Amino acid sequence: MTTPVDELDLPEIDIFALDRQGALAAFEQARDQHWLARTPLGYAVTRHQDVTAILRDQRFHSAISLLPKMAGVEGPVAERQQRSILATEGAEHSRLRRLASPAFTPRATDKLRPFMRDVVNELIDPVAPTGRCELVEDICQPSPIPIICELLGAPRQDWKLFSDWATDIFRIFNNDIANDLHAIEAAMAELDSYVRAMIDQRRNRPAEDLLSRMIAVEEQGDRMSTDELVMMTEAVLMAGTDTTRNQLACSVALLAQHPDQWAALADDPALAPQAVEETMRHLGAVRSTLRVTAQDVDYQDVAFPAGTLVMVNLAAANHDPQTWPDPHHFDITRRPSSTPLMTFGSGIHYCLGASLARAELQEALPILARRLPDLHLDGPIEWKPPTVGIWGPARLPLAFGRTPSKAGLEAKAQ
Ligand code: HEM
Repeated sequence: MTTPVDELDLPEIDIFALDRQGALAAFEQARDQHWLARTPLGYAVTRHQDVTAILRDQRFHSAISLLPKMAGVEGPVAERQQRSILATEGAEHSRLRRLASPAFTPRATDKLRPFMRDVVNELIDPVAPTGRCELVEDICQPSPIPIICELLGAPRQDWKLFSDWATDIFRIFNNDIANDLHAIEAAMAELDSYVRAMIDQRRNRPAEDLLSRMIAVEEQGDRMSTDELVMMTEAVLMAGTDTTRNQLACSVALLAQHPDQWAALADDPALAPQAVEETMRHLGAVRSTLRVTAQDVDYQDVAFPAGTLVMVNLAAANHDPQTWPDPHHFDITRRPSSTPLMTFGSGIHYCLGASLARAELQEALPILARRLPDLHLDGPIEWKPPTVGIWGPARLPLAFGRTPSKAGLEAKAQ
């Protein structure tokens, strides 16, 4: 017999009142009581098994297109969001995914690895002799834009333009739409005309880049229109910058507090793939994602009316003891698991850039470990509020190559 979801006796979690650790602890406690919890952002799913099942259940749609509306945005910005691959569903989504996927081959990702190493080394060069850095501003903030530009085929002189557009378009999530709307619309319009000009060029003279590969893909007589190519470029810029920069900061923040593992990584760069999986499991930059029921749905004897918001808690799923033995133990030599990491999602919207993101982190971490030896905190880490969609440190002060300062030792003891 099914029970309407609003009649269930569920644990309640006020996510806005908790920090990251408090929120994770509350979800883990709630998980022992029920697979669902009630939060101000909708019903939250916390068990690995149900998180996976709901992300794979096509009656639960991506709620990303609702975000601008929830933030009070209407008009072109909201309409554009609805056409993104992240927001579309059904046949429309399958078609976009089929046409875009061949452009994200492991071969194309591997070709970028030397470039990724150059980017990280160039960013470390000025801070290495000083013995300290603020990792977010010095390394994480600037690192993804050059890589996305190289992927797309945009030249070095335009990195700044892309960085500014990404910053302005991300204002959608800043909760200050009334003031930001003009900047968001202007950035979208500029990016739009830049990409259209690039598409024209690549149609005449294809190059070795993502845009040329997306233009070249043709499946059963179908190919992406110019509008779709523009939308896909914007999706890549949006989905591929803030995620990787926050994940790099999360991964380093964790390793800075485990000096033996940092040293092991410096000694043996072959540990990098495992270090990436374990840091992403333990401290993922995407903590949750939202779904909305597209119709009345019965799942696990619970009836969800159409339009119900469901928060799928990836972080809690990554710490589910049913699937991860001793889930709070952090160990980059942990045996690779057959259980999929949830930080890249699951189902039809599984991260299209997962292999690119993994490569970026696999290249960056061992270089940082080798060039910033004896890494330790040089003050407290300032974390973003856990309710932001893409999460990580706002400030990560670090010192290296010398004895920890008093502030660093105090921060570590917290
Ligand atoms: C560590 C870095 C990254 C993390 C943690 C991450 C995480 C995610 C997650 C959780 C989703 C699914 C969202 C949902 O189901 O609602 C997703 C989708 C997506 N990601 Fe990533 N991502 C990362 C990097 C990237 C990069 C580098 C790119 C592109 C270059 C990218 C492109 C995309 C795209 C296009 C989608 C939408 C796929 C679809 O809807 O079919 N991501 N990502």
